[in-house]
Amino acid sequence: MDSLTITRPDDWHLHLRDGDMLRAVLPETARHFGRAIIMPNLVPPVVTAADAAAYRERIMIALPEGSDFTPLMTLYLTEGTDPDDLAAAYESGLITAVKLYPAGATTNSDSGVRNFENAMPVLERMAAIGCPLCVHGEVTDPSVDIFDREAVFIDKILDPLRTRLPDLKITMEHVTTKDGIDYIASGKNIAGTITTHHLIINRNHILVGGIKPHYYCLPVAKRETHRLALRTAATSGDPRYFLGTDSAPHIDPLKENACGCAGCFTATNTMSCLAHVFEEDGALDKLEGFASLHGSAWYGVAPNAGKITLTKQSDPVRYPAKISTADGDVTVFDPGFPLYWSVT
Ligand code: DOR
Ligand code: ZN
Repeated sequence: MDSLTITRPDDWHLHLRDGDMLRAVLPETARHFGRAIIMPNLVPPVVTAADAAAYRERIMIALPEGSDFTPLMTLYLTEGTDPDDLAAAYESGLITAVKLYPAGATTNSDSGVRNFENAMPVLERMAAIGCPLCVHGEVTDPSVDIFDREAVFIDKILDPLRTRLPDLKITMEHVTTKDGIDYIASGKNIAGTITTHHLIINRNHILVGGIKPHYYCLPVAKRETHRLALRTAATSGDPRYFLGTDSAPHIDPLKENACGCAGCFTATNTMSCLAHVFEEDGALDKLEGFASLHGSAWYGVAPNAGKITLTKQSDPVRYPAKISTADGDVTVFDPGFPLYWSVT
């Protein structure tokens, strides 16, 4: 097969930032994707309905002329979140979900949840109104090894939360372990996003032969057995797994740094990377489900009306190595192999 036409995809987990960075990276996503769930971890974070409405407006203004891309907004859950404000934002359609960051887990997560008891009233309200919770599933306990933080989160936080609130609809974001994949497969009211880069890199790519800061993200890529479990889930056709790129731009000086930021910027070449991965696994027929259908079904919205066509070329597709922004360059994810699938 050298041509594949699929429903226009969506990105169910995306970082767009703000200001000059937003203006530079938004076209990279809007080119191929119909919609994206926009992460709220700005500085300061998007906490209230008014914050989300104002951020949505800034995104709409930053869109390229003629683009019909739709940002799906989220609120950043804090221990002080007002359940009434959240419910009004969800019921009016302003937000699609709420994001839970354990405090200190990742970039701009300081305002996240420290004591889950304090978030229970708002989580109960979300369960009652059907508002989905997107979860960054890592514990922050310094005694837990960074490679175990997802598995420990499932045992210590996620499973007890789901037992207490079985009606709460939970998206486990950027699953990086077989533990996460198996946990999703075993339950109700839970689904998971998988990033492009976690289907391609394992922890050796970050650490062997010199440290590669552009492969560092959170949750950090795990050992090869976990990557293979992610590949199996993504290419299985199981509707509980779908694309959330977690494309997360940082300028090069903040990545190539003694204390480098977490995040891989994959917006530019994600669909080419995914076509490569799905072809390699003999599952090109499952790409549309993963990138275009499963996520919209989970969030209860219709698939996009438009289509994209992926075409396999004989010469590698040329993507820019960097996207330039007024703040500095952002390095585009390098999958480590040539990409032959182009998108139109
Ligand atoms: O690698 C990551 N980067 N993981 C996250 O959870 C946050 C993101 C960011 O905002 O840069
Ligand atoms: Zn993210």
